Amino acid sequence: MIVTTKQLFEAAYGKYAIGAYNINNLEQTMGLFRGCMDSQAPFIIQISKGARSYTHKAMLEGLIRAADQVFPEAVFAVHLDHGDEAACYDCIESGFYSSVMIDASHEPFEKNVEITKRVVEAAHARGIVVEAELGQLGGVEEHVRVNEGDAKLTDPDQAKEFVELTGCDSLACAIGTSHGAFKFSGSQSLHFEVLEMIQQRLPGFPLVMHGSSSVPQEEVARINAAGGNLKGAKGVNEDEFARAATLGVTKVNIDTDGRLVWTRVHREFFRDFPEKFDLRDPGKIFMAEYAKFIAHKNEKLGSAGRLAEVRKLV
Ligand code: G3H
Ligand code: 13P
Ligand code: ZN
Repeated sequence: MIVTTKQLFEAAYGKYAIGAYNINNLEQTMGLFRGCMDSQAPFIIQISKGARSYTHKAMLEGLIRAADQVFPEAVFAVHLDHGDEAACYDCIESGFYSSVMIDASHEPFEKNVEITKRVVEAAHARGIVVEAELGQLGGVEEHVRVNEGDAKLTDPDQAKEFVELTGCDSLACAIGTSHGAFKFSGSQSLHFEVLEMIQQRLPGFPLVMHGSSSVPQEEVARINAAGGNLKGAKGVNEDEFARAATLGVTKVNIDTDGRLVWTRVHREFFRDFPEKFDLRDPGKIFMAEYAKFIAHKNEKLGSAGRLAEVRKLV
């Protein structure tokens, strides 16, 4: 059942966070649904602009509609990740997405407000909810590249003003994370003090944490042992999700970790079975491993076991 992120946030706020997982293909879709069913968790599927153009935007829509039938118990939102204005309008008009993210965080404050406000008006007119972003994460986003030193943590006072001016439904805040597999070139840390100040100014308002992959060191070691070259890869401590959730983080974005599972499975498979070439062989292993990974993440986020109660609320 497709719901809005807003409905999920109302159920989760202050208690746990909802996992927002990026998908690009069939195997990720199957693994994601299975993992969420195994752990009985509500979830958010997110689709980036890159994912929409990887094959054709209609392909992912078709996959998700099919998965909704294959897994009738599932409760999830379908969300555009890091949209620009044009992508947001396209998703709003599609009638398929229940939530969009307008990411104008690279623009000056006033321009970010202006763009976000326009998207909010268009989305709300169709019953679709909007995530916006203020502050700048380090790392690489599709249309933005930010060096760690240039990343700007979200200013708590500006966050309150931004939400009031734009009417957005949730806010992605920069609190020390970055996208990709190489977070924290220095020591690893979430800026809980910033998060606390934002929550004080925006009590009850859902906050979003991007760049939340934990980049498991065992995964990195296995990839490197099977021919990979990921030196110094590092992520967020997944044991910090629970504290972040009590401070208003209701959506936690995870993409890179899933890519690492894919890479590990395929590197090990072709190392161990060099004579094989049926893509379904590693595909089956990946779906099972990805489902396991998702179920584990949902445990850490506290969304595992919440499906029945969320179903009653939506
Ligand atoms: O934040 C970005 C997401 O990980 C999506 O990545 O734009 O390469 O699909 P992508
Ligand atoms: P990661 O690169 O840490 O998985 O972050 C994903 C993300 O924020 C998608 O919007
Ligand atoms: Zn992101």
